[in-house]
Amino acid sequence: MHRFHLVALLALIWHTVIVHSAALAHVSREQCQVSGKHCPKGTIVVSATEKHADFTTVQAAIESLPQDDSAHTVLILAGTYKEQVNITRAGPVTLLGQTSCPEDATKNKVTLTWAAANHDNTGKSVDNVFSSVLVVAPTLDSSLTGAGPSGFPVPEDTPFGNKDFRAYNIDFTNNWAEYSDGPAHALSFSRANGGFYYCGFYSYQDTVYVGKLGNAYFYKSILAGQTDFLYGFGTAWIQSSSVLLRGCGGGITAWKGTNTTFPNKYGVYIVDSDVRAANASIAPSIVGACALGRPWNELHRSIFARSYEDGSIQSNGYIDWIISGVGRYEKGVTLMAEYNDDGPGFNRTGRIESSVSTVLDRKGYEPFDEPRKVFQDPKGRFGDVSWIDWETARK
Ligand SMILES: *[C@@H]1O[C@H](CO)[C@@H](O)[C@H](O)[C@H]1NC(C)=O
Ligand SMILES: *[C@@H]1O[C@H](CO)[C@@H](O)[C@H](O)[C@H]1NC(C)=O
Ligand SMILES: *[C@@H]1O[C@H](CO)[C@@H](O)[C@H](O)[C@H]1NC(C)=O
Ligand SMILES: *[C@@H]1O[C@H](CO)[C@@H](O)[C@H](O)[C@H]1NC(C)=O
Repeated sequence: MHRFHLVALLALIWHTVIVHSAALAHVSREQCQVSGKHCPKGTIVVSATEKHADFTTVQAAIESLPQDDSAHTVLILAGTYKEQVNITRAGPVTLLGQTSCPEDATKNKVTLTWAAANHDNTGKSVDNVFSSVLVVAPTLDSSLTGAGPSGFPVPEDTPFGNKDFRAYNIDFTNNWAEYSDGPAHALSFSRANGGFYYCGFYSYQDTVYVGKLGNAYFYKSILAGQTDFLYGFGTAWIQSSSVLLRGCGGGITAWKGTNTTFPNKYGVYIVDSDVRAANASIAPSIVGACALGRPWNELHRSIFARSYEDGSIQSNGYIDWIISGVGRYEKGVTLMAEYNDDGPGFNRTGRIESSVSTVLDRKGYEPFDEPRKVFQDPKGRFGDVSWIDWETARK
């Protein structure tokens, strides 16, 4: 009995300490972003113009970090940075964008921008990764999209990359074209765990790539594109965010699943979010025209849950991906689903009549209804979501 009380008391104290320090961390993170004060000790400052900054580019700051497990924070001061950033290290990295509105991604003041697609104007083509504004992956091989039903064969002995990557209030913009003109990544995220809070991702085709063994969580962020702009092999959870349609092409989601020796839930989950035309001028031209997704291979998995869909979405929801007359959709294998969506874009009759869209009930959605149920480590174990900033994501 006494022993029980002691344990309970210790648990209570421990809980209080944890919650208290996390709360402090949250407040000081926002203060660091707003005023440059209370930043974590050792924070590196990047600015192209401010004299007191440590580096003029984000990539130079990243390259100054040791290749080890130590945690580092980089504060990027307001401005537009024309550069590609490539993060290979394993230790935690936090990128903070300076802002006066830490809880509003539409008011971000830091933009990382690059203009590239997977081909140049002479027709020479390269792997999609070379177009990306931000790459997080341990090696080049692990970040390659490759081709065929299973993509680039990443060597077995490739290490895991970043275990805890975090970005706050940063826009990643690929300005290659103002329409779909081949894959043009804003983000390429593979073999790593990471969270993006109040960030923006802007391109037209293949904006956000979550590659093999990538675990990416997005919170109150903006993901904009036209064609297959949420795509990949890994697992993406998009929470309370805006999915902005800058046109229609392919589908919003295009996932390529992988056969593994363990059951996997690789896929993209868009939850409590808004799916709508990017602005009022584009809206009338895409009414009823955009598809929720199409299967990049037969193991595609995507769920739009509890989300609002404006009138841009097709009545049938998802579409098949047909190559030489053969559709990639396989009944009972491909999952192109929705759960409790609403808005003018959600046409229940249309979905039921479609041969490829699935409307899940509570029981069907239950295995996918929390990040800890879908994010897996490379061995297939579920449950480690300690790399998500819950203090921010629960607000
Ligand atoms: C990222 O950096 C690593 C290490 O320097 C390099 O091997 C890789 O090619 C880079 N990735 C890209 C896409 O440039
Ligand atoms: C997955 O396994 C099934 C059954 O063996 C096979 O038919 C299918 O082609 C595989 N798909 C991929 C993408 O490897
Ligand atoms: C609306 O979005 C489209 C598609 O991205 C873009 O071309 C256009 O410039 C935007 N218009 C306004 C007024 O922002
Ligand atoms: C909903 O879908 C059905 C079946 O495809 C179609 O007949 C109906 O016109 C659609 N309703 C709207 C509002 O688009």
